[in-house]
Order: sequence, then C-alpha cells, then structure tokens
Amino acid sequence: MSSDSLFVWVYLPSSSKPVVSGRLDISITAAGKLGKFTYGKSYLSKKDAIPLDPVTLPLSESIHEFTALKGFPGIILDSCPDRWGIKVIDRLVGQMEYPVGYILLNDPGRAGALAFSLSAKDIPKEMDSREFKLNDLMHAAEAVEKGLYADPELLKALHPGTGGARPKCNIVDGNSIWIAKFPSIDDSSIISVPRLEHATMTLADLCGIRVAKTKIEVIDGRDVCFVKRFDRELTSSGILRTNYLSARSVFFGSDGYESVGTGSYGRLARQLQKYGCPIEEKHELYRRMVFNVAVRNSDDHELNHGLIHYKHGDWRLSPAFDIVPTTVFHHVYQHAILIGDSAAGTISNLLSNAEAFELSQAQAKSVINDVQSLITDNWIDTFYSSGFGDESIRNIERCFSPIPLG
Ligand SMILES: Nc1ncnc2c1ncn2[C@@H]1O[C@H](COP(=O)(O)OP(=O)(O)OP(=O)(O)O)[C@@H](O)[C@H]1O
Ligand SMILES: [Mg+2]
Repeated sequence: MSSDSLFVWVYLPSSSKPVVSGRLDISITAAGKLGKFTYGKSYLSKKDAIPLDPVTLPLSESIHEFTALKGFPGIILDSCPDRWGIKVIDRLVGQMEYPVGYILLNDPGRAGALAFSLSAKDIPKEMDSREFKLNDLMHAAEAVEKGLYADPELLKALHPGTGGARPKCNIVDGNSIWIAKFPSIDDSSIISVPRLEHATMTLADLCGIRVAKTKIEVIDGRDVCFVKRFDRELTSSGILRTNYLSARSVFFGSDGYESVGTGSYGRLARQLQKYGCPIEEKHELYRRMVFNVAVRNSDDHELNHGLIHYKHGDWRLSPAFDIVPTTVFHHVYQHAILIGDSAAGTISNLLSNAEAFELSQAQAKSVINDVQSLITDNWIDTFYSSGFGDESIRNIERCFSPIPLG
C-alpha cells in the first residue's frame, strides 16, 4: 500500500472507541490529486453505521471519488488543523506534508469524530499530554505567536488539532470540554477581542440564535473566552464525539462548486435539506446571516459555519460560533461569503435572496426588523453586563448602528 492511503476511523455516537469506517487512497493524476474513498465491508455491515457525509459519502460499496480539496473528502479535511494548529505542530514536530501529516497526528482537539491511521490494525493513538494551568498554556501560546521557545509538553497540551487562526487551547472545566480563546498579539488595541466575542455571542443568544455557550475568565489580568465544545461530551465511560462538517465541505459536496468557488448563505441553505434538516434550520441560518450583518461580523467565512450530526445520518446546523464584529470601520461591509446577490452587508442585499431560505419578502423583513430592534435595545446593556466599560462601548458603537439600506 502506498503511503497515501489513510484508514479512516470514526467514533460512533455512543462509543468512546473508534472503529474503522473505510480507506482513502490519494493518487496523483495528470489533472491533479484524486482521492478514492471506500467503506469497509465490516463497517457497512454494522447496524449502527452512519455515513460520514450523507451527500458525498453515502453508505455503499461503491468507490467515492474526489478531485477538489486535494482529493480529500470535506469531512476528512475538516479534521485537519488550520493556521493556528499548524503553527504549533510545526514547532512541536517540524513541518509535514499538508494535510496528510497533520491529519495523522490525531490530536484530540480536532473537530468532529474521525481518527486516522496507516493500517487497519493500528488503532489511532491520540497525542497525549500532561495537565497544565491555563496561565501556563496562555503564555505558551503567546510564545508561539512571538516565535519564542515554548516547552514541548505545553505545546502538546494546547491541543493544536482545533481549527482557526487565533491562539487557543482545549481545556476541561466542570463537566465539559471548552475551547479557550486567548488574546492575540495581533489584536486591535481598541477593545478586548475575547470579551468582544463573549458579549456578541451573548447578544446573538438574546436575538434567538442557537449559539455555543461562552464565558469569560480573567487569567493573569487577560481576558480568555471559553467556548463550550458542541462536538464533545464527557461521560463516565469516556469522551463521546459527534461528527462535524464545515460549510466548506457542504459547498464542495455540490457538483460544479469548484468552478464557482464562492460560498454563500443561500447555497448553504439550499443544501440543508440534503442533510435531513427541517425548514426551521433555513430560517435559523437566515437569522444568523442577518445578525452577522447587523453586528458587522464580516469574517463569516466557510469554516465559521457548519453542521453537526444529529441522529441516524441526519444533520443540523451546529450551534453558531466565532461571531465577532470587525472593528475596522466601513460604511458597507463586504462579507466573506455572499449574503444575497453580492457580499454587501445591506438591507437590500439581505432581501435579495430570501427565497433560498423559504421566506417571503414580508417574513424576511420581519426577521431583519426583529433582529435589528433586539440589537438596538439590548447591545449596550449586554456589553456592560459582559464587563465592558464606557470607553470600549464608545469604541465599538459604530458596529451596532442600523444596517445600511443599500
Ligand atoms: N463550540 C465549538 N465546538 C466545537 N468545535 C468548535 C466550536 N467552536 C469552534 N469550533 C471549531 O474550531 C474551529 C476554530 O474555532 P474559531 O472559529 O472559534 O477560531 P478562530 O481562530 O477565531 O477562527 P478564525 O480563523 O475564523 O478567526 C472552528 O472552525 C470549528 O471547526
Ligand atoms: Mg473561525
């Protein structure tokens, strides 16, 4: 077998031990990389087998082929760390071939419920680490950002498998696993970004959006935003995991997407049905889009939305996460994926593709009015109760002005 064959394991919903689901073979062709995924017969014969992705990887004996995303099925690439984790891992073990080297590392911080090995007999061994105080982990993360020495044991304990670009670690607190998001040396000086994330997520909750739970801890005088993991559950028999699929994977699951290459909320909404989501999920997505426009969260890219396995191969939108206003001021913000006909954060654009969310113009207007008035009436109180003072509130208030008409 060539070294470009990966055995793909999955933690089924009620088990803390992984089983082999299949094999991914990557070959290089004249047209680029080609990935072929085949489910194992023993997996297909399991009563509780679930498709890793019901759209691109339905349970069947056929070979599933992939040419986009370097030949990787989206859900497998979603198991790979992103810019932050790669920076940490490169410090720890040196640069590896992307993405296969990073995927094989099996860091427990990764998204979702997959694990990988080079043979069906090698049960994936997760990178283990000692326990450290959050203060030490925060200082190790800062050392990574500054290019300074950090103890390898601390680097492992950061759990660099978690995606995203900001410095972070995973931590057990109470009976849950949290992502602890640290301040970054690149942060704007006008406001504490971790506290801004917590306050904005609290406001999103108040606006009727299903959000990941957050809280602020002050460590060594600095704000750290804790975000409760929605794909992990600590139980007496070990950690249970839930499969996770980013919007990027959903986009690439649709034929011809590669040539378009521009994600959009409307496209995500249209795909939801294929994942077994009821119509309410489209409405939830519309509300999230309106909220992101209203709070100027223009970093709403394809890895900042995702689906989580719900049951029997049906999926739901994951709780919303990483909602943070962009503090550089623009009259009209350009979002990272299309809002409607364009990426502009305006009322007219929000209304331009309401049918993709199965909303009439009147219903869409009513969601916009509802979200806008909830924000106007509540954001200042929410920010005060999240611990911000007058100066920070003044510095950020332009982000909460009414959405431009367009
Ligand atoms: N509550 C959560 N539970 C499980 N996984 C999560 C949660 N929040 C985020 N993630 C996963 O971790 C990744 C990184 O998280 P997040 O987007 O908050 O980090 P970030 O560094 O701010 O990202 P970005 O690069 O977009 O700025 C996400 O893309 C998602 O895969
Ligand atoms: Mg993110």
